[in-house]
Amino acid sequence: VTGRGGIPSLSAVAALVLIASSAAGCGRETRNLHPAPAASDVNATLADAQENAYAMNEGKRLYDAFNCTGCHAHGGGAIGPALMDTSWIYGSKPDEVFATIVAGRPNGMPAFRARLVDAQIAQLVAYVRSMSGLTSRKWAPGRNDSLQIGPAENTRDRQPPRGPEVLRP
Ligand code: HEC
Repeated sequence: VTGRGGIPSLSAVAALVLIASSAAGCGRETRNLHPAPAASDVNATLADAQENAYAMNEGKRLYDAFNCTGCHAHGGGAIGPALMDTSWIYGSKPDEVFATIVAGRPNGMPAFRARLVDAQIAQLVAYVRSMSGLTSRKWAPGRNDSLQIGPAENTRDRQPPRGPEVLRP
């Protein structure tokens, strides 16, 4: 490693830096850019999305794109109930929120099963749950792409659902 006179040669130093940086790697999670239209294991897809920042940000994008804001605003509620508080009519667990979005609910919540694939609904579930701090801050969105409309989801205090709740590590 040392060149003439005990001084490390430039190329040796460069090689060491290269090895060190490739060994450290970077801990970026997997981004599933092309979710299968019919996910073979919905439960696994749903569970994965609850712990994935990319999935949650995609959920946030879909929440606007599919006009959830039209009825729920940015979580505070309007025609539809608030999604950032402690009360849940149909349950706060991932499978319960999934069922709400897929099949709709009788008092005005439309069914989205014909418009979104399961993996996208799983992303929406993760985002909806992050609005009341039910997912870990590690994965919840830290900023908006546009105007800031409320505190970032990863800074929200947990709103314990009235009833059983699971999954926050
Ligand atoms: C046309 C208005 C409308 C749109 C659009 C809409 N919702 Fe709803 N949503 C409602 C209403 C009304 C309810 C309450 C239904 C009931 O009480 O039976 C509801 C209920 C829900 C619930 C259950 C809340 C609870 O307390 O259990 C969730 C979750 C939800 N909506 C998420 C979404 C998401 C995500 C989208 C976008 C993909 C969306 N909604 C789009 C009107 C809407």
